[in-house]
Amino acid sequence: MTHKRLIDLDVKKKKVIVRVDFNVPLQEGRVRDDTRIRAALPTLEYLLREQGSLIVLSHLGRPKGKINDDLRLDPVAQRLSDLLGVEVLKSDQVWGPEVKKMVENLKPGQVCMPENTRFDPGEEENSPELAREWASLADVFVSDAFGTLHRAHASNAGLARYLPSAAGLLVEKELEALGSLRAENVDRPFAAILGGAKVSDKLGVIEALLPRVDLMVLGGGMANTFLAAEGRDMGDSLVEESQIDKARELLKKARESKTEIILPTDLVISPKIDASDEKSISEDAITPGWKAVDIGQKSIDAFREKLQAAGTIFWNGPLGVFEVDDFARGTIEIARALSEFSAWTVIGGGDSVAAVEAAGVADKMGHICTGGGAALKYLEGKELPGLKALEVEE
Ligand code: 3PG
Repeated sequence: MTHKRLIDLDVKKKKVIVRVDFNVPLQEGRVRDDTRIRAALPTLEYLLREQGSLIVLSHLGRPKGKINDDLRLDPVAQRLSDLLGVEVLKSDQVWGPEVKKMVENLKPGQVCMPENTRFDPGEEENSPELAREWASLADVFVSDAFGTLHRAHASNAGLARYLPSAAGLLVEKELEALGSLRAENVDRPFAAILGGAKVSDKLGVIEALLPRVDLMVLGGGMANTFLAAEGRDMGDSLVEESQIDKARELLKKARESKTEIILPTDLVISPKIDASDEKSISEDAITPGWKAVDIGQKSIDAFREKLQAAGTIFWNGPLGVFEVDDFARGTIEIARALSEFSAWTVIGGGDSVAAVEAAGVADKMGHICTGGGAALKYLEGKELPGLKALEVEE
């Protein structure tokens, strides 16, 4: 099975409904980081060159089916308009008469944007009525919201049922980059760096990657559970007790398959995870009342040394409490190190993207994913409903 490509879809002078993922951070009513908007420009510009009339759909945040004024798409529409150099008409309706009228008046080369798709409960319920309502506005559907492909929602999987559909150029680019990590001929040694707070979110991808990688570096809150599984006293650190056995089993599997798992040795510890008034270094049992908040210098050096020889590196998740400046050092140092190595480096979304940006090395990475959740699911080998909906017989 494969999916239909944009190049094979007749979009010339058509009304095109495009699902993008403009779930971007806002600050004081403005877009703080427009990476995801920029990433969708190749598809939107292609459609405009083909004289399409574009109806651009996106979600923003998690309003849970209710109108939330802080999550309206106006700042996003404004930024899109600035980047495209074309006016973006915006409606306050997700669908309905105002949207219909706006679309009816839309001319080739014009762009409009209905309101946040998740203001309607039908979006996350994948309601056929809602999908049909949107489909009635357009001739064809282009799915370019890579970051949302792991969701079966009305504006992606749903819409594809009712219109001739194709994957957009961003989706193609992401699948090509991530697909190369799943390929047999990946440039070795292949290393994965996995971090982030909760181990339960990452167990699936750890299990899926273990037989494929040569080296797995674990850090951040999730490494605590592995350290606890090795018998280290973690004090008051975040440890998912219910996952300790699973962590032990994965460590055993890694040993059997001769995949090297590297855990931090020294840890930056603090009594609080949200402030850095007091901190210290622990190389052994952590005192009660103290929590692991970052990796220490010895771990940074060991990680660097091991990763230096890699041919391919995939990284998802920070190696400490990255939001607190004083606890971000380990993550930033590893981001800098990656920029000096010759490996092809794929940054798998979320905070690791923020880390390479904060370290000023984003442009030195091989590929930066625009969706962490979707990237992990894809690497796990799980079905992505938004992609499945675009499948056609080969
Ligand atoms: C993301 O930010 O990862 C995507 O936009 C999906 O958002 P969600 O996790 O709220 O579905």
